[in-house]
Amino acid sequence: MKAAIYPGSFDPVTYGHLDVIHRAAEIFDELTVSVLNNQLKTPLFSVEERVKILEKATENIPNVKVDSFSGLLIDYAKKKGVHVAIRGLRAITDFEYELQIAQTNKLLSKGELDTVFLTTSLEYAYLSSSSVKEIASFHGDISMCVPEFVAQLIFEKYGHR
Ligand code: PNS
Repeated sequence: MKAAIYPGSFDPVTYGHLDVIHRAAEIFDELTVSVLNNQLKTPLFSVEERVKILEKATENIPNVKVDSFSGLLIDYAKKKGVHVAIRGLRAITDFEYELQIAQTNKLLSKGELDTVFLTTSLEYAYLSSSSVKEIASFHGDISMCVPEFVAQLIFEKYGHR
């Protein structure tokens, strides 16, 4: 069985992430979308909230599971017995950062963890969780960026309805 992990902050999940999730789930038998519990960042949504949001957003994809992790991705992947990490590449600006992480993970895992990149569909190429949050904080329209229920949760966080 071919399994993969899609790690990320997902604060919150966007249509760009969901595009990658749908496509990775077609390629792999089992996909675990895993939320990084990063103590260095102050997120809008807690890890538990992000996991719940992802579970709801992926409930129609049977081979997708949602989880969370702390620490190094290579340790988490080893514990789960998974050898492939998925990352989405939007524009060329993502490439250097992603290449650095992928090469470091390959080295640290002694070749055990490979990264498979999926290029994000063009319509989502400039979408990011950060810009979605910024737009929402100014009451902007984020309906083309995230599912409706996610938009509502974001607006609630900012005290909008
Ligand atoms: O959605 P993001 O914030 O771009 O995801 C970044 C992520 C979670 C893939 C990356 O920060 C990560 O894997 N962090 C876990 C810590 C780790 O393994 N670091 C070593 C790679 S340099």
